[in-house]
Amino acid sequence: MRNNLFIAFEGIDGCGKSTQVKLLTDQLKKTGHKVYATCEPTGGPVGSVIRNIFNHRIEADHRTIAGLFVADRLDHLLNKTDGILQKLEDGYTVITDRYYFSSYAYHGTHMPMDWVIEANSLSAGLLRPDVNIYIDIQPEISMKRLQEGRSSTELYETLENLTNVKNRYLEAFEKLKSLEKIFITTGDRAPEVIAADIWNEISGYKNER
Ligand code: ADP
Ligand code: TYD
Repeated sequence: MRNNLFIAFEGIDGCGKSTQVKLLTDQLKKTGHKVYATCEPTGGPVGSVIRNIFNHRIEADHRTIAGLFVADRLDHLLNKTDGILQKLEDGYTVITDRYYFSSYAYHGTHMPMDWVIEANSLSAGLLRPDVNIYIDIQPEISMKRLQEGRSSTELYETLENLTNVKNRYLEAFEKLKSLEKIFITTGDRAPEVIAADIWNEISGYKNER
């Protein structure tokens, strides 16, 4: 495998993204790669506003939230200190827990998906992932995991919404399959088994950026 891939993890809340980001980061480091693991919403100024909306500290319309994610993503790519483009330039393999497919799936349930895709076209033009890894899970299973693991639920964490989001993910993958590399792995297995599946897939990649 050549250095310096850009990998995005996708899936509904509780599907196991954070767990897999960590396992993949460890595996890449073991094999000599410099790795920068990051996530959206980011820890930057726009990401902080978004987190306050999800925690119900401030209120905002779904369309406003979609717009905030557009800005947060551009900052995630472009900011001069730890922006993804800079990290790739510096030779890091970058793994992000969520990228623009999250916007297509989560906001495509509240407004036309084509609008969301168009609104994110600057980010897509700057950087498409070498692979979007989608962890596929039944919403019932992820709801159960979320309820066991947390004391409160975030804005989008209801069974009805996660079911809609899952359907929107599949719609977005179908719509963009000619432009995007998408790898789907089954999330209802032991974490190590999923990690091995992902490693088997990406260890063969050549970075053609
Ligand atoms: P996400 O980042 O997608 O929300 P997490 O990795 O935080 O998901 O996992 C959500 C919860 O499910 C956590 O409590 C985690 O320990 C658990 N979990 C993660 N992967 C698995 C798995 N493959 N099988 C069972 N439980 C899992
Ligand atoms: P995250 O912290 O990844 O939550 P989890 O670990 O439970 O998956 O994401 C927080 C929420 O942000 C999640 O409900 C999905 C939502 N989200 C959007 O609505 N639009 C976006 O563009 C992104 C990146 C996330």
